[in-house]
Amino acid sequence: MAAERTQTRGVFVTGTGTEVGKTVVAAAIARTLVGEGRRVAVFKPAVTGLDEGVETDHELLRRASGSSQSDEEIAPYRYGPPASPHLAAAMAGEEIDPEQLRYAADAAAASAEAIVCEGVGGLLVPLSPGYLVRDLAADLGYPLVVVAGPGLGTINHTLLTVEAARAAGLEVVSVVLNPWPEEPSEIERSNRETIAALAELPVLTLPQLDLADPASWPPLRI
Ligand SMILES: Nc1ncnc2c1ncn2[C@@H]1O[C@H](COP(=O)(O)OP(=O)(O)O)[C@@H](O)[C@H]1O
Ligand SMILES: [Mg+2]
Repeated sequence: MAAERTQTRGVFVTGTGTEVGKTVVAAAIARTLVGEGRRVAVFKPAVTGLDEGVETDHELLRRASGSSQSDEEIAPYRYGPPASPHLAAAMAGEEIDPEQLRYAADAAAASAEAIVCEGVGGLLVPLSPGYLVRDLAADLGYPLVVVAGPGLGTINHTLLTVEAARAAGLEVVSVVLNPWPEEPSEIERSNRETIAALAELPVLTLPQLDLADPASWPPLRI
């Protein structure tokens, strides 16, 4: 299975927390790869909040990538309450099985030329009581993209996330500040430069997108 992973180009999209734009960035990366002519699979270990009635992460990822994967193939664990995955699973009377996640991610990767995985919350969110998102990222072995907001507070959140990744031996390839305003303020421009300098990483940006129309999105090459 490791051989399958190394043959498939992959990326693991994490972020400084929830609602920072991981799904949108992962969708934009997937869309860009599709535009380059690649067959792209998407993967999300666990989706919570199905009860909220909005387009879910796995649905947007599938729509942006044009993938024909089933819900189950994209996101093997899906729960109604908008809770941390370990809690959502416990509320459903079960526990997320790391082995099952690795198996599902490898199956998704084996079906395509490239795979875009989205984490859940941030790196230290538990998938099960003893298995963090960071552990899954390490097991899958794909390089990380860190999504963060552009504004005040983002330097600390981003550097903490990059440090947590590197502390576990994970490779971070870039930071994406999202959504990047059309006319960034001095603070936002400075945040971008400061993160690039202190994290020693490329800091990319993604503007506000029309999520209904992936064909209109600018490419996001990481
Ligand atoms: N670049 C963007 N353009 C348009 N909407 C965005 C953008 N980034 C985030 N959003 C919106 O902000 C919310 C949070 O983004 P999402 O990608 O779901 O975050 P996360 O996956 O980190 O929880 C969603 O409603 C999403 O549609
Ligand atoms: Mg998401």
